[in-house]
Amino acid sequence: MDITEIDGFDNLHEPEGILAESMEMARGMYGTKRTWFLINGSTVGILAALFAALPRGGRLLMARNSHRSVYHGVMLQDLETVYLYPDTDPETGIALGITARQVEEALEADPEIRAVMITSPTYEGIVSDCAGIAGAVHKRGLPLLVDEAHGAHFPFHPRFPESALAAGADVVIQSVHKTLPALTQTALLHLQGNLIRSERLNRYLTILQSSSPSYLLMAGIDTCLGLIRDRGSALWEKMFSELDKFYKNAGNYRHIRVFQREEIQKDPGKLILLPPKTAMTGRHLYEVLRCRYHLQMEMAAESYTLGIVTCREKPEGFTRLHEALEELDSELQPAKETQKEKPTDLPPPVQTEKIAAAMEKEVYYADLDTAAGRECGCFVNLYPPGIPLVVPGEIISRELSEQLADYYSKGVRLQGLKGQKIAVIDNHTDNPSKRG
Ligand SMILES: Cc1ncc(COP(=O)(O)O)c(C=O)c1O
Repeated sequence: MDITEIDGFDNLHEPEGILAESMEMARGMYGTKRTWFLINGSTVGILAALFAALPRGGRLLMARNSHRSVYHGVMLQDLETVYLYPDTDPETGIALGITARQVEEALEADPEIRAVMITSPTYEGIVSDCAGIAGAVHKRGLPLLVDEAHGAHFPFHPRFPESALAAGADVVIQSVHKTLPALTQTALLHLQGNLIRSERLNRYLTILQSSSPSYLLMAGIDTCLGLIRDRGSALWEKMFSELDKFYKNAGNYRHIRVFQREEIQKDPGKLILLPPKTAMTGRHLYEVLRCRYHLQMEMAAESYTLGIVTCREKPEGFTRLHEALEELDSELQPAKETQKEKPTDLPPPVQTEKIAAAMEKEVYYADLDTAAGRECGCFVNLYPPGIPLVVPGEIISRELSEQLADYYSKGVRLQGLKGQKIAVIDNHTDNPSKRG
């Protein structure tokens, strides 16, 4: 099946045959103006969207909790950034949604902003008020780009939150491989409205994607969407019936809880498991589920473990997860809650120059305990989900260097550090190897 653009097999970059037909099916299913298949993940869709939506050097209003591909787009297109900070859930530290009011205020304060980009849902499945945000953004004639990498399934069952497409976003990027049954790297880029030209998106996709796109990946998207079209409702009905049972059972655990807050819109397929803080961390729960019960969860954070449930889950999987959690719950002996350890709030970062300019400079590696006050020369990401804690050009605050050292000592997975050292911009005065 691993063929190339031979006769009758069309060409992703100039589709007029089977690939055009297949993308037309996707366009119809998602109800968009145009839909493209992506063979380099949501990553390439995000890059193309930023190139198409903003002029070089333009100003982008973006959620701070964006995936690193958004920051990479910012760097490549030399964009200026203004950040939107989501509130966090006080118990878990999970980032909540961006509000329409935040966006309105930011746009009011800065008439130079050329486009807005948010992530909805987040890795944990938290959804922003995309309809309200689209209203605020469109009032100013600007485009709204939504990284919906974790929401390709939203349009297909009424129990999922509203998709950013239904909410009126202009460009929406979705990974097919994350929450639908398809091969890794498969994704979709959707366009609606008249604020961004289809030709611009097409041009950048042609530049950024391989000239030999994999037919395995493209056939994988086609097969996946065919399955969803023909059998999706039945598969999701089955999933929801198992999921309802799981949530009901989980309500009987004495200590372990599943995150749910009435007022927060969330993808029910993301299971945020909260062990009691005085008994175990999220990472510990993740390891126990993997090593003792052979259940591979998606991600671990300090206070929670995240699982993803899709329409291809077998009832046996739900049963095994419930039985494991039930057994663990009965064994847990949480100690008395002492003073709650409150995570340090990081001060808003001070950006001294654009990410692209900082990336061009020479760096050296400084110990975390001496890095405070220096200009950062790298991205440091929590991985997964690949969201930056600091980006090039920002001043490393004392609070941040302490938090990074704390994460390091706890074995939290961080990308960008070299052991306990961080890349800082070499201005030749504070580099110890060059002093004197
Ligand atoms: C929120 C978010 N956006 C974008 C991406 C990039 O998606 P892909 O891996 O399909 O390139 C990810 C990947 O984890 C993500 O979590």
